[in-house]
Amino acid sequence: MINIKVTGTGSYLPKNVITNDDLSKVVDTNDEWIKTRTGIKERRISQGEDTITMATNAAKEALKDSNLDSKDIDLIIVATLTPDNFMPSTACSVQNNIGALNAMCFDISAACSGFIYGLEVASSLLKSSNRKRALVIGAETLSKILNWEDRGTCVLFGDGAGACVIEKGDKGIEAFHTHSIGEKGDNLTCGAYDVQNPYVSIKNEVNEKYIKMNGREIFKFAVKSISDTVGELIKKTSWELDDVKYIVPHQANVRVIDYTAKKLNIDNDKFYTNLDKYGNTSAASIAIALDEMNKKKLLNKGDKIILVGFGGGLTYGGAALCWNV
Ligand code: COA
Repeated sequence: MINIKVTGTGSYLPKNVITNDDLSKVVDTNDEWIKTRTGIKERRISQGEDTITMATNAAKEALKDSNLDSKDIDLIIVATLTPDNFMPSTACSVQNNIGALNAMCFDISAACSGFIYGLEVASSLLKSSNRKRALVIGAETLSKILNWEDRGTCVLFGDGAGACVIEKGDKGIEAFHTHSIGEKGDNLTCGAYDVQNPYVSIKNEVNEKYIKMNGREIFKFAVKSISDTVGELIKKTSWELDDVKYIVPHQANVRVIDYTAKKLNIDNDKFYTNLDKYGNTSAASIAIALDEMNKKKLLNKGDKIILVGFGGGLTYGGAALCWNV
């Protein structure tokens, strides 16, 4: 049986740190509200870095960590909801920047679940072809699609990118569970171009070009998504939840994690979090967290971990993997 393992990780975060106090000078908010409702203390906001630049830097680090040359990479997938261009794709731009001449490259759109979706698509493509190695990247410049006058959303998000290299191997990703609920898509939206040409002018139903969210609905959806996904992955792998060293969730809100821990009857410490420093970086968040754990040497060969994401679409899903670096 062909397995797919993670062999390297990388990340990039803009240098510009914006604290909750800094934000209180931009919108009517305060450190206390943001910290108690979300757990976020600060986030990184681009001062010019775009999605391609951040994705490229994260990819270079992941390549270095896996001791590979860019020409060894057969596939690049970038998950993003904030591409710099409709065309070329972010993945093709990364390919050009790092010189990955042999790679097939494309982007996927699954909002905050994008990194998990990217991992599943990349794993399937490696398994079903003679391609051996892939770069899966989550990269976002969310600051460009935030309404900086809406205190209900602009305090939650940040910019950044994370990447990992996956390769065919002996042991590694043991199961995926991914799902989409299009009928609930209205709860988390960001509009794009309207159909406008010399013959017609139609307003997009989602006509606001920034993130809009029904926070309460998304909160409930997040808790259910994480707990259902963890349950499904435990079933698929026949692991015991006690044997899982870390659950690495999409980094959106520490209260979501507290509720989920209670629901699953597990310790909060099993969830790895760094959202206090970076806020919600959408498709990048799980990859950034994984890289941070790798750099801190928190993961040993054979450790069982579960990655789990949820977000716009609505989409959710997770991956169960044995760390095998
Ligand atoms: N600073 C200060 N006050 C704020 C504020 C801010 N940044 N944002 C909202 N408020 C105010 C509201 O105006 C409201 O005031 P009112 O009672 O006078 O009308 C009050 O705080 C409560 O607002 P509400 O939106 O009901 O708060 P909430 O308890 O639902 O918390 C979220 C809001 C966004 C933190 C919460 O709903 C949440 O975490 N949802 C999940 C979001 C998520 O995970 N998104 C990830 C998507 S992938």
